[in-house]
Amino acid sequence: MKKVLVTGGAGFIGSNYIHHALRVHPDWEIWNFDKLTYAGNLANLKDIDTDPRYHFVQGDIADATAVAEVMKNGIEIIINFAAESHVDRSIKGSQEFLVTGVLGVQTLLDAAKEHSIKLFYQISTDEVYGDVEVGQYSKETDMLHPSSPYSAAKAAGDLLVLAYARTHKVPVVLSRCTNNYGPYQYPEKMLPLFVTNLIQGKKVPVYGDGQQIRDWLHVDDHCRAIDLIIEKGNRGEIYNIGANHQPEWVNLQVTKLILDELKADESMIEHVTDRPGHDRRYAVDTAKISVLGWKPLVAPDEGLRQVVRWYKDHPEWWQPITSGDFKKYYESQYRSA
Ligand code: NAD
Ligand code: DAU
Repeated sequence: MKKVLVTGGAGFIGSNYIHHALRVHPDWEIWNFDKLTYAGNLANLKDIDTDPRYHFVQGDIADATAVAEVMKNGIEIIINFAAESHVDRSIKGSQEFLVTGVLGVQTLLDAAKEHSIKLFYQISTDEVYGDVEVGQYSKETDMLHPSSPYSAAKAAGDLLVLAYARTHKVPVVLSRCTNNYGPYQYPEKMLPLFVTNLIQGKKVPVYGDGQQIRDWLHVDDHCRAIDLIIEKGNRGEIYNIGANHQPEWVNLQVTKLILDELKADESMIEHVTDRPGHDRRYAVDTAKISVLGWKPLVAPDEGLRQVVRWYKDHPEWWQPITSGDFKKYYESQYRSA
């Protein structure tokens, strides 16, 4: 059995990845190491929690003792999804972002070095490049221009990973993916927030003019890309991952698609105060990963509609969140335009 540590596996992408990996890698045994912050949710994994190839350990990646303990299981690969991931929260307060995104990454890298593991995989984001003009695409070799404390913390983590690769010869790979959508995404993020608001008869808060561009990728396509990079990616290198959806979608178009799928009309759109420092457009050049043989398989329009239906069909998953602490957070957000 290959022993794999997935950190942050109780969050959105990590939990989707664990489902995917248990399905496609019968020779993997997975330890999910997660602090269970507000975003960590074991309900995302309840259908697999008795699988003998899956183990859950609650712990903080910035806690060297807890990390050392889980590494005793003979871990060969670390895939680090753990992060504070919401831009708006990083604007309100950034310390946790830095603790997990920098000190946490450093703690994992030290463990990787000490145990001479086969691979350290850092899950990064297209946001480290900052926004780019229409017609431009960020390449893996571009300078980093993060705009928010979230993306600055991610950029710092990336640099640390590359430094350990060079100085300590830790075998690493990094990937920088665009916006994911899929099941189990915490309903503070645009897509699940808008869907769950509409189902509850609430309006959807579109920041500013709603003309910002994101390149939406189904989480299953992201999971397949991660596997391919583990298998074929050059160690010490970075791979962009993105849907390259053409024509590009502005947020208002995605909003209208959600409204359409839920048979709601445009009177449910509320333009609210823009996010401070809001990046206008992300777009990545995916030539490098396409050489490995990856391309997205999920059709963007139908994929988004399917995911809208998933939230509609699974109120038992999101209602405990929207009625709990999240309600206080949401009500304290800047809202009026
Ligand atoms: P998420 O917020 O849904 O999940 C993060 C998980 O990490 C949670 O389970 C949380 O409990 C855990 N965690 C946080 N701090 C921790 C710590 N100190 N120790 C251990 N666990 C901790 O995030 P997500 O959207 O699933 O994103 C996962 C990763 O993918 C992040 O690194 C993010 O930067 C990156 N990413 C996300 C997207 C996206 O669209 N969501 C796109 C590209 C990259
Ligand atoms: O690009 C990858 C990144 O995508 C990841 O690194 C982040 O972890 C992830 O959160 C996501 O960041 P965004 O800021 O793009 O995602 P979010 O869902 O918060 O917002 C998507 C777009 O929708 C963005 O332009 C802001 C806008 N928005 C968001 C919210 C929450 C709104 O208009 N209204 C909202 O209420």
